[in-house]
Amino acid sequence: MLVIVKDTYEEMSKEAAKIVADRLRKKPNLVLGLATGSTPLGLYKELIRMHKTDGLDFSKVTTFNLDEYIGLPPSHDQSYHYFMWENLFKHINVDPRFVHIPDGMATDIDAFCQWYEDEIKRAGGIDLQILGIGANGHIAFNEPGSSLGSRTRIKTLTKKTIEDNARFFPRKEDVPRYAITMGIGTIMDAKEVILLANGKNKADAVKAAVEGPITAMVPASMLQMHRKATIIVDKEAGAKLTGEFENYG
Ligand code: F6R
Repeated sequence: MLVIVKDTYEEMSKEAAKIVADRLRKKPNLVLGLATGSTPLGLYKELIRMHKTDGLDFSKVTTFNLDEYIGLPPSHDQSYHYFMWENLFKHINVDPRFVHIPDGMATDIDAFCQWYEDEIKRAGGIDLQILGIGANGHIAFNEPGSSLGSRTRIKTLTKKTIEDNARFFPRKEDVPRYAITMGIGTIMDAKEVILLANGKNKADAVKAAVEGPITAMVPASMLQMHRKATIIVDKEAGAKLTGEFENYG
C-alpha cells in the first residue's frame, strides 16, 4: 500500500487527478471505477480542467460507479446518477453508452446486481477504482461487518451513515435506508485502487484502515491485501498515522 499525505485537499485532489490522467493517456479505453460523496469533488474538478485545457480525452472510457440509493430515480438531486452527471460527466466527453451506475429503481435487484457484475467482466474488469472512506471505515456502502469477499448486492445503511448523509436531505427521515453497492470482493478485483480521504473526521478511519488489523469491522482495511492500492490523504485525515509516509510529488 502506498500512502501519500498531502498538505491540503487541493493537493490531494491534484495528486489523484495526475494518476488518473496518466493511466488514461496510457490506455484511452480505461475502465474507471468512480465514487460519489464530497471527497472526490476536487478530483473531478481537476479532471474537468484537464479535459478543457489539456484535451484529456474520455471518449473511449467506460465507467462503473460504486453505488446508488434504492428508491431514488436518476432525476432526484440526491441520486448518485444526478451527482455524477452534474459534477463530472456533463463537463467531459464521456460517451453516455459507456457510463454505468447501479439502478436504484431496478425491480429485480438481485438480477440487476448480477448483470452489473457481468458488465464489469465484459468490460475487461476495472482498471482503476476511485474510493472514498466513511468515518466508520466503510468503502462504497460496505458497512462494518460486510463480507470481505462480497459482490454487488443490496445493503442496509447503518445509523451512522444515515446520520452522515442526512446533511444532503431536507430531513433525516428522507435518507434512503437501502443501497445497491459493489462488494468488497468486486472492489478488490480492480487492477488498481486509489482511496482518498480528507478532514479530521476521517483520521480514525484512515488510521484503522492503514495501520490496524484487517477486519470486516473496518472494510477499508481489506485494501491492505490489494496488489496496487494508493491511499492519498490530506494532513488532517492522515494526522493519526504513526508510520513515516512521504509527502512527495
Ligand atoms: C460514495 C461512496 C461512499 C463515500 C463515503 C465518504 O460513492 O461509496 O463510501 O465514499 O461515504 O463520503 P464523503 O466523501 O462524502 O465523506
